[in-house]
Amino acid sequence: MSRRKVLAIVGGGTIVAAGAATGLFAATRRPDRALAPWSAAGEAIEPRRHALSYAILAPNPHNRQPWLVELEGSDTVILHRDAERDLPETDPHARQLTIGLGCFLELMTIAAAQTGHGVDLDLYPEGENGPVAAARFFEGASLDPLFAHVLQRRSCKEPYSNEAVPADLIDQLTPLADIRTDPKDVAALRELTWQAWETEAFTPRTMQESVDLMRFGKSEINANPDGIDLGGPFLEALMLAGMLSREAQSDPSSTGFKEGVKIYKEMLHATPAYAVLTTPGNERSDQIEAGRRWLRLNLTTTALGLSLHPVSQALQEFPEMKPHYDAVHKLLADTGHTVQMLGRLGFGPTVPPSPRWPLETRIVDG
Ligand SMILES: Cc1cc2nc3c(=O)[nH]c(=O)nc-3n(C[C@H](O)[C@H](O)[C@H](O)COP(=O)(O)O)c2cc1C
Repeated sequence: MSRRKVLAIVGGGTIVAAGAATGLFAATRRPDRALAPWSAAGEAIEPRRHALSYAILAPNPHNRQPWLVELEGSDTVILHRDAERDLPETDPHARQLTIGLGCFLELMTIAAAQTGHGVDLDLYPEGENGPVAAARFFEGASLDPLFAHVLQRRSCKEPYSNEAVPADLIDQLTPLADIRTDPKDVAALRELTWQAWETEAFTPRTMQESVDLMRFGKSEINANPDGIDLGGPFLEALMLAGMLSREAQSDPSSTGFKEGVKIYKEMLHATPAYAVLTTPGNERSDQIEAGRRWLRLNLTTTALGLSLHPVSQALQEFPEMKPHYDAVHKLLADTGHTVQMLGRLGFGPTVPPSPRWPLETRIVDG
């Protein structure tokens, strides 16, 4: 059995075993219920529900889906951050969660244009402890060509090929992000992202936060379509064989944990370029803006046939991470500016969508 197949994963996201088993077992392992929101998107007629059915497909940290919406009056969406979905260990100031909400708002706006609606956004109308945004839909908007890539967009958590990102593609990304391809920068970032990942994985309380969000196999994924989904025929076979379990993932001395570490090291190093978003300030509005830009960047990479994968460990704000946080800021940002997003960029494989809670579960009464 190859190392890539002995998957035991720590630290984030959908994992797909390469060359997974085929046959009846494989055919029954797709978590259809958890993926249904991807096929239901766009079915609603009412303009706000139509746009929201796409917005819930936005990228967001640990796939927490930290959004709750109220439909107010006939034309307004009130967006709240769901505090029950906070990540107190790895995102103590909810900076990353707020970026995810920025991704949500941008995707909602792009989808609203499909029904001819513009969106007036009022951010934090009652201050930072209140709703994230009041979004008023109005008639009259032109289509956004990035909409065509919404259903194919992914965070691709796989090794990328050695192929350099061509200059003409980089030119199309530079209005949205700082793209780093210089071999010295790339080598430094490979090492930094790896060391930061190790720090998160070997700090028990931050590791446990991830383990608690792991969903092992189809029935757990369907029951809780969020967090870190470990599914597919191969991983489920490992679970049946007792080789991939919640216990092993909490135990750095277990074989399963050690194999996971090797796989992540290999994947993080298999990166030819990075995309970086920085902001001069670090207010909530800056974080929302960074999320909006990240979403557009991720749709643009999709359009160009490129893969993108946020690697946020070095940007996390807990004490053990401080040396990596400082190093990444020294390398990537002007003094006093904040690195909001750092992502691997290159050519990766096609990967399946990640689970989502259905829209109806994310709508609350005002
Ligand atoms: C602010 C932010 C930070 C993220 N950080 C990481 C990360 O450190 N590692 C990772 O594998 N994915 C990271 N992601 C990607 C999410 O895990 C991913 O968006 C989520 O699982 C949903 O998958 P999708 O983007 O393929 O739809 C991040 C996403 C956002 C918006």
